[in-house]
Amino acid sequence: MPRVEFHNVSKSYPGGIRAVIDLGLTVEDGELLCVLGPSGCGKSSTLRMLAGLESITSGDLVLDGARINDLPAQARDMAMVFENYALYPHLRVFDNIAMPLVARRVQRGEIQKRVHEVAETLHITDHLMKRPRHLSGGERQRVALGRAIVRTPKMFLMDEPLGHLEAYLRVELRAEIRRLHERLGATTFYITHDQEEAAAVSDRIAVMHQGRIQQIGSLLDLLDRPANRFVAEFIGSLPINLLAATANEGDGSLQVGPMMLPLSPAQATRLRAARSHTGLTFGIRPEDVALADQEHAAALPGRVAVLEPQGDNTVVIADTPVGRVSAVIPSRSVPAQGERIRLHLALDHAHIFAADGSNLLSGVDRKG
Ligand SMILES: Nc1ncnc2c1ncn2[C@@H]1O[C@H](COP(=O)(O)OP(=O)(O)O)[C@@H](O)[C@H]1O
Ligand SMILES: [Mg+2]
Repeated sequence: MPRVEFHNVSKSYPGGIRAVIDLGLTVEDGELLCVLGPSGCGKSSTLRMLAGLESITSGDLVLDGARINDLPAQARDMAMVFENYALYPHLRVFDNIAMPLVARRVQRGEIQKRVHEVAETLHITDHLMKRPRHLSGGERQRVALGRAIVRTPKMFLMDEPLGHLEAYLRVELRAEIRRLHERLGATTFYITHDQEEAAAVSDRIAVMHQGRIQQIGSLLDLLDRPANRFVAEFIGSLPINLLAATANEGDGSLQVGPMMLPLSPAQATRLRAARSHTGLTFGIRPEDVALADQEHAAALPGRVAVLEPQGDNTVVIADTPVGRVSAVIPSRSVPAQGERIRLHLALDHAHIFAADGSNLLSGVDRKG
């Protein structure tokens, strides 16, 4: 049963480019693990080392308990799907899908059966006799997927397989990929730069940045408990507000601009233990900022600069003494442009980042 482990795996390219640094990661048997990160962070390099297409500079790659650093790609038995699905233009869809079986000298009857099964799964049965140029982008990508799943490899490796498609097709196909994985239960290494896609195909997401894994968890974990400032900024549909802050050691409060935010005793203790009081950053998502009412003693004064209507809600961007702050406000109670407002920041959903970017305190931890 395939289970893949990366132990301190690094990749350097000639010229000193460190594409992957000290990667530690396990893809469990039958799991679809998603690696999510911005362009250039080392995702494809990682996948190519796993595929055997790129040498490993240092560290160990272990498949089912055996070190496979030097195992040739052909011997690894991994099926790949890339963003640029290379279909054979002169072959019909049927033959494109059948190719891996033909190459392995599978019997003709068995090929017929397998190709038709796969075509049915991917809803392309009607296109089997067409050539790729007569298909839409989404249909072509399905054919590429079909070619990967027509046999039963040890693992599937997918490198931004939906990257080129129009938005609505991406949404459709990512659901398809999840269903396919639930049905086949094959160990899959899936790469994307799109957080919605990551969350749609997988329950476990590894966030990568500058060659390093930053955090592994569900999208909710990444949103609620980001390990560091990078994850907090990268994840989320709206950019997180990041405001300079200072801890007051005396009374255990946090100063954010003109606001003194009272920390719980547990929060104060953890901040003290972290031994960093200066260069702190207070992070709060726009969804956790609201218009303050009379009860809110500690509110941030501001003036409405920009309104971005989004239907039921409007993103209100205000100029405050600590910089621009955005808030998601129900559209029916939105203030006017230029109006003076007071903002309430939900402390129990806030994060405090140290100068080095590490997360000292997630609001959701405050009970602890
Ligand atoms: N063959 C190569 N030679 C030199 N540098 C490379 C090569 N492939 C990738 N890189 C560099 O390694 C880094 C990571 O690239 P890559 O793994 O393709 O990232 P991603 O897939 O996340 O966009 C980038 O800085 C890229 O320019
Ligand atoms: Mg890539």
